[in-house]
Amino acid sequence: MADLSPLLPLDFPADAVSLASVRAAVKEVESQLNGKGLNLLINNAAVNSHATLQSVQPEEMISVFTTNVVGPIQVAKFLPLLKRAAEEAGKEGLSCSKAAIINMSTNVGSIELCFKVLEIPMYPYRASKAALNMVTRCLAAELKDAGILCTAIHPGWVKTDMGTEKAPLTMECSVQGILSVLAGLSQATTGEFLDWEGKSLPW
Ligand SMILES: NC(=O)c1ccc[n+]([C@@H]2O[C@H](COP(=O)([O-])OP(=O)(O)OC[C@H]3O[C@@H](n4cnc5c(N)ncnc54)[C@H](OP(=O)(O)O)[C@@H]3O)[C@@H](O)[C@H]2O)c1
Repeated sequence: MADLSPLLPLDFPADAVSLASVRAAVKEVESQLNGKGLNLLINNAAVNSHATLQSVQPEEMISVFTTNVVGPIQVAKFLPLLKRAAEEAGKEGLSCSKAAIINMSTNVGSIELCFKVLEIPMYPYRASKAALNMVTRCLAAELKDAGILCTAIHPGWVKTDMGTEKAPLTMECSVQGILSVLAGLSQATTGEFLDWEGKSLPW
């Protein structure tokens, strides 16, 4: 298992949909790394929408896509720092302790699972996460030769503002599961879609 410590404690506000804000965050992270590369980038920020076919407005589709799809692509401005980490590692294979992008997805964004979990349509959210899944696959394909792993993770249904109190999983339980999944990621799991327990999900 790869060692995921030390994680960089960073208390810096960043708006993933603002290019200026993402660039400022890259600068801040670079200065804290003191010339070293960035090993692990987790695209966690997202917004939800329960809009149905009847209620959905074009502006809501665009706003959810902007945060959930355009945001993670802009966050790829961290790429030079990830490439630096991959070069510094000087080892074969892919891992989160070398260089990795993790995109937080959801099982309701799986096109194949759609007929099984359609009870809440959530058109903007589900469509945006399906698009994020494609971004994950493209990044994995494009960056593997640069030594950078890219995997999508479904955190489970978690008690957060988005998941609500009805969710069965605590944040601690989900985060612990995700950290142990991340520690085991490798060349074999780049471009894959896994849940918080490491189970493979269909795209
Ligand atoms: N909770 C679940 O059951 C569940 C299930 C499946 C997948 N997920 C995924 O897991 C991830 C985390 O979800 P969560 O449950 O923690 O959601 P959450 O409680 O709604 O928190 C979302 C976070 O994203 C931040 N955010 C939103 N827009 C942003 C932007 N433009 N720039 C920077 N930060 C932004 C929010 O910051 P502010 O509060 O400052 O706006 C908030 O901290 C998401 O990708 C979500 O889709 C969650």
